[in-house]
Amino acid sequence: MTTYSLLILPGDGIGPEVMAEVRKVIGWFEKNRGLSIDVSEDLVGGAAYDKHGKPLADETMAKAQAVDAVLLGAVGGPKYDNLDFSVKPERGLLRLRKEMDLFANLRPAQCFDALADFSSLKREVVAGLDILIVRELTSGVYFGEPRGISADDTPGNEGGRVGVNTQRYTSGEIRRVARSAFELARKRAGRVCSMEKANVMESGILWREEVQWVHDNEYPDVELSHMYADNGAMQLVRNPRQFDVIVTDNLFGDILSDAAAMLTGSLGMLPSASLGAPMANGRPKAMYEPVHGSAPDIAGQGKANPIACILSFAMCLRYSFDLGAEADLLEKAVEKVLADGVRTGDLMGAEGGKPVSTSEMGDHIVAALSAL
Ligand code: NAI
Ligand code: MG
Repeated sequence: MTTYSLLILPGDGIGPEVMAEVRKVIGWFEKNRGLSIDVSEDLVGGAAYDKHGKPLADETMAKAQAVDAVLLGAVGGPKYDNLDFSVKPERGLLRLRKEMDLFANLRPAQCFDALADFSSLKREVVAGLDILIVRELTSGVYFGEPRGISADDTPGNEGGRVGVNTQRYTSGEIRRVARSAFELARKRAGRVCSMEKANVMESGILWREEVQWVHDNEYPDVELSHMYADNGAMQLVRNPRQFDVIVTDNLFGDILSDAAAMLTGSLGMLPSASLGAPMANGRPKAMYEPVHGSAPDIAGQGKANPIACILSFAMCLRYSFDLGAEADLLEKAVEKVLADGVRTGDLMGAEGGKPVSTSEMGDHIVAALSAL
């Protein structure tokens, strides 16, 4: 039996509250499924600043580099808003992403049947939706040079200022994120749709050619299609279930993943992962985290929905520990609890009812694991 190592970084605000529920889930898998996970816990964000005077201690960074996976809660809060930029809580998160070189950002959009009426789209369009957007995270127009604002808007030079950003990708950067997408597709429905604007951008032509090259040479078993990103946006709201894995660049991915997220409802439901290069054991470096922040407005009140963090752990089971059956089981348990009408405050619809607490939601999910 393999022992997996997991570094838990609860962080600030509701981070520790939702992480406590993940701990219950981990405990259930250890007790009932013989899973062996070596869990360690450390500080990040404001919590780390309070202790070390910086949002991520060097020892914590070293631990993150050594483990099979990192699971992070959330960072930040009003208490830290006036800190110097260099020690702000989110710098801790950014340091993890940068030093682990996490270039593939995974944002699933999964619609649980019981919540289909939460979507802004019709139930029949989103029910059963299960797509995964893979966004390149370390390059592209957010980083390309040259960049900046040039020329003064001085008298006589009216309208002469120039704002410049450069969309720049190397073939290596495209290939590595394409490989991530194909690997993920193999563990899902086996289909990748790559999105760019090859019709108007040379970087898009390179993107298309390189993704095709990786497919033809390394992943011919996966079905590959290409789509212009603007059409992709339309297709995402018209018929999102046509997609399995979508791979795209940093800018298009930023926008498309936020749009896709809202197909499914509450922020309290959305997990994410960021993957890097394969380690010696063949699995990628990885950090998992809910999409939401530290929610200071509800922190400490037992109101937070722990599902986003629990589903982030399900992604960890699937992609870092190669335990697809366990990940499926956990997602089914979440689905069952929702189907039974159990709701945290953020999931209360017009029908009303009494919300459960963070801890009660965790207990229901653990009970559902035992019942399935
Ligand atoms: P937020 O995601 O923390 O909250 C937005 C709204 O959604 C709030 O009304 C909150 O109560 C609600 N919400 C979020 N997660 C929820 C959950 N699990 N259950 C129920 N309701 C939930 O975003 P906001 O308010 O913009 O930022 C608050 C703090 O979090 C800031 O300090 C910000 O910098 C930080 N932040 C951290 C992130 C991270 O750690 N990755 C991401 C986004 C924000
Ligand atoms: Mg965004």
